[in-house]
Amino acid sequence: MSWRNGFGAALAAGLALMIGFGTAAQEGKPAKKGGKGMIRPSEEVLKKREARMKELEKTISKKLNIPPTDGMFLKIMAASTRAQKVLEIGSSNGYSACWIGQGLEQTGGHLWTIEIDAARAAECRDNLKECGLDNVVTSIEGNAFKEIPRLEGPFDMVFLDAWKTDYKRFLELFLPMVRPGGIIIAHNTIEQAKDMPDYLEAVFQSPDLDSVTLSTTQWKKGITITYKRRL
Ligand SMILES: C[S@@+](CC[C@H](N)C(=O)[O-])C[C@H]1O[C@@H](n2cnc3c(N)ncnc32)[C@H](O)[C@@H]1O
Repeated sequence: MSWRNGFGAALAAGLALMIGFGTAAQEGKPAKKGGKGMIRPSEEVLKKREARMKELEKTISKKLNIPPTDGMFLKIMAASTRAQKVLEIGSSNGYSACWIGQGLEQTGGHLWTIEIDAARAAECRDNLKECGLDNVVTSIEGNAFKEIPRLEGPFDMVFLDAWKTDYKRFLELFLPMVRPGGIIIAHNTIEQAKDMPDYLEAVFQSPDLDSVTLSTTQWKKGITITYKRRL
């Protein structure tokens, strides 16, 4: 099954319906073309973007990127929940950020993505620029444990994809910054479940959180989506 028609997309749409299309006020983002802050990229930008995304697909394993199906899932989640403020922990070269950014073009939202490795952060900035997404995504170079408290919430969506043994500590740090009704998406929760038992216990046992683990591909990386309950 190709990622273009994979069942992950349908699953994402269903989840977004379940979550209830939350919205939050967006600060300081001027509206571009398309109204309500939506950005409609030009044909030229789309061409360059397609070419760069194809290039990036060749180095997915080397750069520790998510598979394209998981990228499509993130894009759909960002767009269909109408996310305005999104946080990503662990940018690598910005491949997943490019997917989330494409979802946010449709909502007028913005992504802040954090990467500790200077070389990867530089690649991230270059890829965002080439894909015409540097106006939708801010790349932050630094240790996310230090950078997150400097950011202003509330976030509608968080994508957690740093070192797996840190997931629980990150959850404790950013959970107060996720709005009630917001979502947290954690990657590799099947493949590397043994490295994050504390995180999985926290998101599945907390009375304030609803969680489900799913897989969008035969790659079985695993995505755990967590909903911060309103009540
Ligand atoms: C699995 S890769 C991220 C892949 C990326 N999300 C993608 O799919 O394109 C994990 C990244 O997290 C970064 N990282 C690990 N700990 C971090 C921290 N404390 N702060 C910021 N980045 C961190 C690593 O340097 C690495 O590039």
